[in-house]
Amino acid sequence: MSGDIYKKPILFAVVSAVVILIGTIATMFIPMLTPQMHPKLENLKPYTPLQLVGRDVYMSEGCHYCHTQTVRPLKTEVMRYGEYSKAGEFAYDHPFLWGSKRTGPDLARIGGKYPDAWHYGHFEDPQRFFAESNMPKYGWLKGYPVDPVEAEASVKALGLPYTKADIDALKGKNKLDAIVAYMQVLGIAVAKKPAASSAQIMGDKKNPLSGNASAIAAGKKLYDANCAACHGAEGKGGIGPSLVDNVWLYKEGDVSDGFIYTVIAEGTTAGKEIEGRTAKGGMPPYSSMFDQDKIWSMTAYIRSLQNK
Ligand code: HEC
Ligand code: HEC
Repeated sequence: MSGDIYKKPILFAVVSAVVILIGTIATMFIPMLTPQMHPKLENLKPYTPLQLVGRDVYMSEGCHYCHTQTVRPLKTEVMRYGEYSKAGEFAYDHPFLWGSKRTGPDLARIGGKYPDAWHYGHFEDPQRFFAESNMPKYGWLKGYPVDPVEAEASVKALGLPYTKADIDALKGKNKLDAIVAYMQVLGIAVAKKPAASSAQIMGDKKNPLSGNASAIAAGKKLYDANCAACHGAEGKGGIGPSLVDNVWLYKEGDVSDGFIYTVIAEGTTAGKEIEGRTAKGGMPPYSSMFDQDKIWSMTAYIRSLQNK
């Protein structure tokens, strides 16, 4: 009778184990082995040997103890870091490096956020950029050349495609080059969402704080703490262009205050056009960090430098 099975504990255990197993195989293991469960993004490229060496440095130096590589689909995270992480982005990550602790910021969208020179400077001396940073210095990686034999073994082991030219390109490269190359490829397979353009709002607007002495003083403070590492003391230039000449985005001639506001608020990406000028990229956006008054104060400070 159907009720008899309840009186046979061993048979009951075996039968229920089989039923649960069939369920598990059907709902978990079969989908796990189908290609649809391992989506690749259209723009995702396999790591080059140099980037892969950088990834190895990332693991061996334990960067993942302080940094995550995944943006959760939460409004605050998306505002701070950009588009949330997609499953398809990690198709070539073995193992993935999502991490779980953010002593430092998430790095899932770091690629293209800064120019290479910024990364070299920052790895050499993070405290030069952010006085209170507890990130260790990594300049010593320069002294360790990339070993092409090891790199080739590494790409082979992961089954990534590579050419002899890729391996030859490792000549003369060191591990600092590799980690910078790795930083610049993180997260670039997902298109950056264009930020709501303040250009339209600010385009013709005059700086309400123009010439205001206390705003200029406040702007100088903000500039020294956030911008000087790239644009040099008093805007004389460095990693980023000079702010005291009359060249704006590589074109001679003055721009509106709204232009300066827009560049600071939105940052730039390669090919972005502002007031008919074309950016090369590398200026980070600051609209989520500073309110309008602060951005106008820095704009006023930059103007005050030019009038000197
Ligand atoms: C002790 C924790 C710690 C370790 C280890 C660490 N970092 Fe950081 N990192 C930070 C902190 C804190 C910041 C934010 C302040 C700064 O930029 O220096 C940061 C910032 C960064 C940034 C800039 C992020 C941004 O969006 O501005 C990058 C890139 C970075 N780290 C890469 C690395 C790499 C690569 C390694 C390993 C070689 C590493 N970090 C190791 C703590 C750490
Ligand atoms: C990571 C380095 C970096 C930091 C930090 C940085 N900038 Fe920039 N900035 C750049 C780069 C690179 C450009 C050139 C952008 C391009 O070609 O797309 C630029 C361009 C500009 C421009 C246009 C100037 C011109 O001559 O074309 C202004 C204005 C500017 N930045 C202001 C600031 C201010 C204000 C801050 C601080 C809140 C700041 N930047 C922080 C790298 C930086």
